[in-house]
Amino acid sequence: MLFKLSSKFRTFGRQKKESKGMEEKHFKRTLITTALPYANGPVHIGHLAGVYVPADIYARYLRLKGEEVLMIGGSDEHGVPITLRAKKEGVTPQDIVDRYHGIIKKSFEDFGITFDIYSRTTSKIHHDLASQFFRTLYDKGVFIEKTNEQYYDEEAKQFLADRYITGTCPHCHNEHAYGDQCEACGTSLSPTDLINPKSVISGSAPVMRETKHWYLPLDKYEPFLRHWILDEHKEWKANVYGQCKSWLDLGLQPRAVSRDLDWGIPVPVEGAEGKVLYVWFDAPIGYISNTKELLPDSWEKWWKDPESRLVHFIGKDNIVFHCIVFPTMLKAEGTYNLPDNVPANEFLNLEGDKISTSRNWAVWLNEYLVDLPDKQDILRYVLTANAPETKDNDFTWKDFQARNNNELVAILGNFVNRTLVLTGKYFKNRVPESGEWTDYDRETWEEVSKVRGNVEQLLDTFHFRDAQKEAMNLARIGNKYLADTEPWSVAKTDLGRVATILNISLQITANLGIVFEPFLPFSMEKLNRMLNVEALGWNRLGDKNLLEAGHELGKADLLFEKIDDEIIERQVQKLQDTKKANEAENHQAKPIREAVPFDNFTKLDIRVGTILECSRVPKADKLLQFKIDDGLKGRTIVSGIAQHYAPEELVGKQVCFIANLEPRKLKGIISEGMILSAENADGSLAVITPQKMVKPGSEIK
Ligand code: MF3
Ligand code: ZN
Repeated sequence: MLFKLSSKFRTFGRQKKESKGMEEKHFKRTLITTALPYANGPVHIGHLAGVYVPADIYARYLRLKGEEVLMIGGSDEHGVPITLRAKKEGVTPQDIVDRYHGIIKKSFEDFGITFDIYSRTTSKIHHDLASQFFRTLYDKGVFIEKTNEQYYDEEAKQFLADRYITGTCPHCHNEHAYGDQCEACGTSLSPTDLINPKSVISGSAPVMRETKHWYLPLDKYEPFLRHWILDEHKEWKANVYGQCKSWLDLGLQPRAVSRDLDWGIPVPVEGAEGKVLYVWFDAPIGYISNTKELLPDSWEKWWKDPESRLVHFIGKDNIVFHCIVFPTMLKAEGTYNLPDNVPANEFLNLEGDKISTSRNWAVWLNEYLVDLPDKQDILRYVLTANAPETKDNDFTWKDFQARNNNELVAILGNFVNRTLVLTGKYFKNRVPESGEWTDYDRETWEEVSKVRGNVEQLLDTFHFRDAQKEAMNLARIGNKYLADTEPWSVAKTDLGRVATILNISLQITANLGIVFEPFLPFSMEKLNRMLNVEALGWNRLGDKNLLEAGHELGKADLLFEKIDDEIIERQVQKLQDTKKANEAENHQAKPIREAVPFDNFTKLDIRVGTILECSRVPKADKLLQFKIDDGLKGRTIVSGIAQHYAPEELVGKQVCFIANLEPRKLKGIISEGMILSAENADGSLAVITPQKMVKPGSEIK
């Protein structure tokens, strides 16, 4: 395999051409890694779009070409967010990661992400390897040992991770800022910036205490990194290269690779009790451990043979760790390959807002499949069509529907369906023999044959969305061919010509089955069944004899179906409900109003009454009319709570009301008082009732 960019590649993206002294690199095999998702929640469309779908397309493509490929995945099961979640739920961190590792793994399987292994960082093999890796660097004298002061919780007897400390933000005075960030104003903080810091664990004020940690001296590796990235990897995506350059230009600092925490891999050094490896130190080693778990005898070849190519698929928030920190670790260790490419994506937003696990603003993969069963390919397609390759992008349900209906159904599905139905009709479902080709047939095939080169160029340079567009172009060529040749009209006069047209259309269909396999694996499996063929390799793409004359086709079926408005509206509604729930959650109680003299209170005559009757007020959708037993002669009150209660649910209940308000006329009814209710954060009202039944007319004091 040759990964030097050919002159043709140069029209795409960031180029190697400016770099002098670039050598051609020959690789025998490709090791694909995918960022290990934190096992503290399920995975959502952002994960899929940014990392797993592109990685899977790439892996499938290389496998189809017959290349040696491994795709490695797994769950990232250490780190503070997991311990915090466990604390919140009152379970152990192990419980949390067991739960989500299972859910995540299943989602990936369901979406056809073809990992060779999907393992986890709590495995023994990983603990051993990460520990050994640290020890190797330690023994080589790579680390700097430094003691500094950190917040310590004297009640809980432990050092506090940044996220374990809350306090007032010095910028916006939000009282619930974290030690690493204020979520109200977005400023990143360090724990010592907080005013009135408090431990999340005990609530007490933490004190400063000395603690020792090990640091990876990134600064020492800066010259190496500059050369390796800035000179030798000019072909990296502009967003990746640019981020690396700005980190390097700012100057690198030593980074602590240990933490005071009781969840993680113990620092394998004497005198390091209560300390674990920093999660970003152990997690990328997970790529290696998982390879080792899969291939106990041959894993080293994948990581150390210079003919093995390493490619990391990640999201943009992981760039610094995969382009700077992990390569430094690998370089310092000395026996491993460095990544050849790191095709990181930007972020996918959802309906205009940042995807967020904590705000539940996401389309969760496990829920998607419950609501839209068997539609994994539709999501794969839409996420690739909208992939955030060069900038953040937005997922909307309207766009999802449009791409399904106007592209998958109307272009790809339509072409395949017309071809198969016509073959069934005119040739009893057998591939007809082609006669002589016309000039137009040859021109069409000319177009068809360009697709392969174009898709390859794009996939080789990680331009997945354009590659998919180019694949769709093949279906467009097919549709145009059918529209121009009109086999249904020609059939009346010249069945021999129809045979040629359908033979060509069927060959295009079989080619679609190859070119779309990496993108739409489930649908292409179905297509192959419809064509009654085994999956064909990539190397046959462009072949005009994929299906032999006389070959019997399988049963025709629809490849894709229209998605109705109703289904989309339900998804949009679901998100709106989330938004409402979040607003309610974030709602802060209103500040207390100005103080009033005690007399103002005693002037009010507030009483309890029993509801005798209740009915809607005609032509007033907010009003209910009450007849109240007030212990005297009874009274009528009109109240604006009709949207919160049905009249029947209130009859017989006791309520509190202000008894000495001047009467008011509402919709022609005299209201003698006001029923008290509390307004909830979401605007709903709850009528106030005494905690136990009292005599009607009782005064409230
Ligand atoms: N868990 C990290 C995240 O979700 C990614 C870890 S990638 C690895 O951002 F390289 F560290 F494994
Ligand atoms: Zn703030």
